[in-house]
Amino acid sequence: MIVVNPNSTSSPPQEDAAPSATAAPISPAAPSATAPAHGASVAGSGSDDARRRAHAFRSGADRQFHGWAETYDRSLLNTFLFRPAYLALLGEIAEWCGGEPKPFRLLDIGCGTGSFAALVASADWPARITALDFVPSMCRKARDKAERVRPDRPADVVNADSEHLPFADGSFDVVTCSNSFHHYPHQDAVVGEMRRVLAPGGRLVLIDGFRDNAVGWFVFDVIIQRIEKNVHHAPWSLVRRLFEQAGFVGVRQRKINLLMPLLVTVGEAPAPPSEASHADGTPV
Ligand SMILES: C[S@@+](CC[C@H](N)C(=O)[O-])C[C@H]1O[C@@H](n2cnc3c(N)ncnc32)[C@H](O)[C@@H]1O
Repeated sequence: MIVVNPNSTSSPPQEDAAPSATAAPISPAAPSATAPAHGASVAGSGSDDARRRAHAFRSGADRQFHGWAETYDRSLLNTFLFRPAYLALLGEIAEWCGGEPKPFRLLDIGCGTGSFAALVASADWPARITALDFVPSMCRKARDKAERVRPDRPADVVNADSEHLPFADGSFDVVTCSNSFHHYPHQDAVVGEMRRVLAPGGRLVLIDGFRDNAVGWFVFDVIIQRIEKNVHHAPWSLVRRLFEQAGFVGVRQRKINLLMPLLVTVGEAPAPPSEASHADGTPV
């Protein structure tokens, strides 16, 4: 596992000693195509060409995941890529919750078949879980799973685009997103949406392929790029910049998973001024 100096905006992720490593009605997809907030869109915006590329990103993901929904949970990628990400997400949530978790609202973006939402539900945290995905067949799978795992309190499953989250500002305490970010044509707009729906003091944990070393470059920029085509695994420095531009504080990054390396980026939505405290914990 790799840890990044939380205070640095320029140093790359460093290797750390120990390896480390979820329903309500399905709503119709939200409208798409928006102007990006900061200049880090993969598909740009405005021009016909940029619109075509954004469409290619979305329809590529739609085709790929619609076809894959049935067999997704049995895929080898589950073992080697998705599970390590779930474990890292669980660790970050546990750390955010502290010793005695208070009830919290979690949104998992790009939830796929809802495996992570199911894990959170079975962890018995006092969490109200919402899972969101762009592809209707993934949402159906996620909903079935949510009802199987917690028939008493199934997760809400929402069919929408990560770029237009259909929730009010500050609706969630924790937002998670694993192995989905590389499908987003306007990654800056999505991080802005993640920040908007987080309540003050809330945490975003974003995990995606780490392409900044030789192994990661080969796996994500060569192999996965060739298979999935319209995808973009953002460099660690870009992800950090997007977090900071969206207003996240305490941003830290680390790399996990040796052979299919993953970049974990964590940021907090600033607490309101009245809850600010001095370094020794006393209120300001
Ligand atoms: C590789 S899967 C990962 C699923 C899940 N997070 C996991 O780790 O098992 C990527 C998911 O992102 C979803 N996705 C792609 N583009 C999206 C978008 N613009 N908005 C929401 N979900 C999207 C796909 O439909 C797919 O289910």
